[in-house]
Amino acid sequence: MADCNVVVLISGSGSNLQALIDSTASGDNPAHIRAVISNRADAYGLQRAKAAGIDTRVLDHKQFDGREAFDAALVEAIDAFEPHLVVLAGFMRILTPGFVRHYAGRLLNIHPSLLPKYKGLHTHQRALEAGDSEHGCSVHFVTEELDGGPLAVQAPIPVQSDDTPETLAQRVHVQEHRIYPLAVRWFAEGRLRLGDNGAELDGQTLPPTGQQLRN
Ligand code: GRF
Repeated sequence: MADCNVVVLISGSGSNLQALIDSTASGDNPAHIRAVISNRADAYGLQRAKAAGIDTRVLDHKQFDGREAFDAALVEAIDAFEPHLVVLAGFMRILTPGFVRHYAGRLLNIHPSLLPKYKGLHTHQRALEAGDSEHGCSVHFVTEELDGGPLAVQAPIPVQSDDTPETLAQRVHVQEHRIYPLAVRWFAEGRLRLGDNGAELDGQTLPPTGQQLRN
């Protein structure tokens, strides 16, 4: 199977990056992480990448005059690695429409909620406040609508009566580390793609909730 070059964008801890690194270490995965790019020099994920022998770049958004200039430089840095797929893994920047269009169909994000619920921040707190019985995480193709692109995979988990935002976040993270590597692998294998009517898996358009993966 042809190699799938992957560039991962991060801003922080990079635990999802670590899950991706671990999952691509085995020889039978066509996904290869060519570079990790961060907008913050102190992102711990950069150390994870270096420890795995992966190229890193830092592009500090504060050094640029506005979003357009930053995203143009980001595109240049990413494209130097000729990616087939760009993976957002805790990249805390809102991307310009031009950036999103440039990577249409090859840009994935993970979000800590069962989208379309709780776009944006503080998702665990919001799920608890709403009294939801289920929460979880979603992998989706990125479109110009923030956290709004077609869903590829979702992992729902039950909310427990004694959950706090922290305990819930912890259990959701475990699921993130399960479904993101899987979605990336499916993409690299040519099984997951963005079709005209949404995300497709093995040639079938997925339901609006994406592929549901329950434990
Ligand atoms: C995750 O919760 C992810 O869903 C969100 O940002 C967080 C990144 O965590 N997009 P990490 O840096 O991968 O640990």
